[in-house]
Amino acid sequence: MRRSGRFGLNQQDSFCVYGAPSVELATVPAGAVQVSPLIPGAAVLEDIAPASLSAMVVAAPPGTVERRYVLAQALRALKPGAPLTVMAPKEKGGARLAKELQAFGCAVEDIGRRHQRICHSVRPEAPTGLDAAIAAGAPRLVEALGQWSQPGVFSWDRPDPGTLLLISALPALSGRGADLGCGVGLLAAPVLANPQVAHLDLIDIDRRAIEAARRNIDDPRVAFHWSDARSAPALEGLDFVVMNPPFHDGGAEDKTLGQAFVRRSHQILRKGGTVWLVANRHLPYEGVLTPLFAKVALKAEAGGFKVYEAQT
Ligand SMILES: C[S@@+](CC[C@H](N)C(=O)[O-])C[C@H]1O[C@@H](n2cnc3c(N)ncnc32)[C@H](O)[C@@H]1O
Repeated sequence: MRRSGRFGLNQQDSFCVYGAPSVELATVPAGAVQVSPLIPGAAVLEDIAPASLSAMVVAAPPGTVERRYVLAQALRALKPGAPLTVMAPKEKGGARLAKELQAFGCAVEDIGRRHQRICHSVRPEAPTGLDAAIAAGAPRLVEALGQWSQPGVFSWDRPDPGTLLLISALPALSGRGADLGCGVGLLAAPVLANPQVAHLDLIDIDRRAIEAARRNIDDPRVAFHWSDARSAPALEGLDFVVMNPPFHDGGAEDKTLGQAFVRRSHQILRKGGTVWLVANRHLPYEGVLTPLFAKVALKAEAGGFKVYEAQT
């Protein structure tokens, strides 16, 4: 499967895939262009010219507003009559897929297999309701955050209580640092409030979060990275890392993801550098922090969250 940056698609590029549909449930040709915002380097679905794609397969996201936005963008990009296959686990939006596609004017064949609903359809000549679904799922300034955000991004319309606890516990940091899994950039403002901070790398695997963070933070000390923080960008010798590590991958709880973030923070810090992190109380991060770091201290605990400071 090819991945690409922002560019126009040519003839042979005109099959797109969103996410990772099960290979047993849909056929995706080897040259299909990936358009999921959660896969760094993927093409941008929103940039694809209207009525230009020959076919698309979508592994639909779980959030209703986000999913309807993706379906509307897919129908906008497909040529009239071009096939659209959409699938989702039954309990994560799959049960609603057929109705959602019908509301856009699609005739749908809805099949159940392996706990998923799979909907086969074609792009109608004149789909209905695309503009409204695209407007409902588009980036916007969210009052409760005072920040740009978008449905589908982590805690997109309200600050996460764990993030707020970490902000309340953070000291004035200094030197060069990074925020692994930065989201729309809520941690960046308090970090950058200290003029002693020389540079901050903001890293997230979600393109929408990075695009929102770019709008939210206008500071020459910041670099933005749409990448998997477990491996990229190349960083070393940092003075500090801040993070509210992810604990879900593809909708399922995944403790190993947060543990990988802890290991990566250790790898990119200088000797004596510190990581500040917040985690749900039930997540087993102490077991990873203690053998790696010279000092580990619990700095705050409230509302089911714990904040740790760990020094290399
Ligand atoms: C718990 S949220 C924290 C977001 C933000 N720091 C905050 O406090 O509001 C974790 C973030 O990690 C991102 N993420 C998940 N897996 C990632 C990965 N492998 N590399 C980089 N970011 C990732 C998610 O997109 C999400 O924005």
